[in-house]
Amino acid sequence: MTKTLLLLPGDGIGPEVIDEVRRVAGALWPQLVLEEAPFGGAAIDAEGAPISDATVARAKAVDAVLMGAVGGPRWAGVARAIRPEAGLLRLRQDMAVFANLRPALCFESLADASPLKREIVAGLDIMIVRELTGGVYFGQPRGIVDIGDGEKRAVDTQVYTSAEIRRIARVAFELARKRGGRVHSAEKSNVMETGVLWREVVSAVHAAEYPDVTLEHILADNCAMQLVKAPRQFDVIVTDNLFGDLLSDEAAMLTGSIGLLPSAALGEAGKPGLYEPVHGSAPDIAGQGLANPLAAILSFEMALRLSLDRADLADRLAAALKAALDGGARTRDLGGTLGTRAMGDAVLAKL
Ligand code: IPM
Ligand code: MG
Repeated sequence: MTKTLLLLPGDGIGPEVIDEVRRVAGALWPQLVLEEAPFGGAAIDAEGAPISDATVARAKAVDAVLMGAVGGPRWAGVARAIRPEAGLLRLRQDMAVFANLRPALCFESLADASPLKREIVAGLDIMIVRELTGGVYFGQPRGIVDIGDGEKRAVDTQVYTSAEIRRIARVAFELARKRGGRVHSAEKSNVMETGVLWREVVSAVHAAEYPDVTLEHILADNCAMQLVKAPRQFDVIVTDNLFGDLLSDEAAMLTGSIGLLPSAALGEAGKPGLYEPVHGSAPDIAGQGLANPLAAILSFEMALRLSLDRADLADRLAAALKAALDGGARTRDLGGTLGTRAMGDAVLAKL
């Protein structure tokens, strides 16, 4: 059966890393149909909005969507409602991809590339499950209002329903069953009402449906500390949208470089997933052919596995990528000298 992957290269280093995905996909699975649409700042320039209705409709109709990156100084002045990041938030919400899987895996050959000591990160294999379509990212009311005397007041709203917490908890427990059997649930129940409800609902789901999985509750600030102190204590971490944003950037550095981290955003079973490298648009190195394409290639690998029913090809790609790293292929973020294209070549050579 034909499968279709929609590519959204976006801004900054996005187009460069997505080019390498296109080459890898062509070699691995020539029959895979690749489509492309403008996204982020590039879509603001081309279509006047960071994502068009047509692109959103296409994203909901294909088998999977893979983006590069969005944003950059060039669009710093655009109206907030149409800033590049707003396109990504709309896409996540409209695709209803509430579960963001952000694996942090330390490749053995890269254990020395992490700023943390080898003995702390070697063998690391964490899965952060970030709630992606709720919380303070989308809560109402929000805004900045004048309150007189030249003063202003800004409001964001952190809000979660029990249903939203229940479904993300289930994703985390299901994953843990196939991995190390342990879930840490991170919130701030010592301060926040959403944290209290989060803890209560995760505990209830655990007791009723997943007593075989080990559950530990952890305060999000302590989780941040434990991640650099003793990261291998973690298997699956489930947390809200904002804490997940922060903790996943932190976890990225354990692996050596944020240029290595893929992610998968999933909704209800059978719906298309949205695959995103965790890194941003990196305007400082954009257009120079220096970016590490591995996070994008690994995001494609997750798409093969989780949306495109080709775990066999995902295994081959993962093995090729590992062989390239074992063979010494390193981009600059990993302390090497290879450019984007050469790193793509190194993976293709092993394929
Ligand atoms: C991420 C990014 C996004 C987020 C930005 C670009 C809107 O930081 O995917 O982690 O905050 O979710
Ligand atoms: Mg982030």
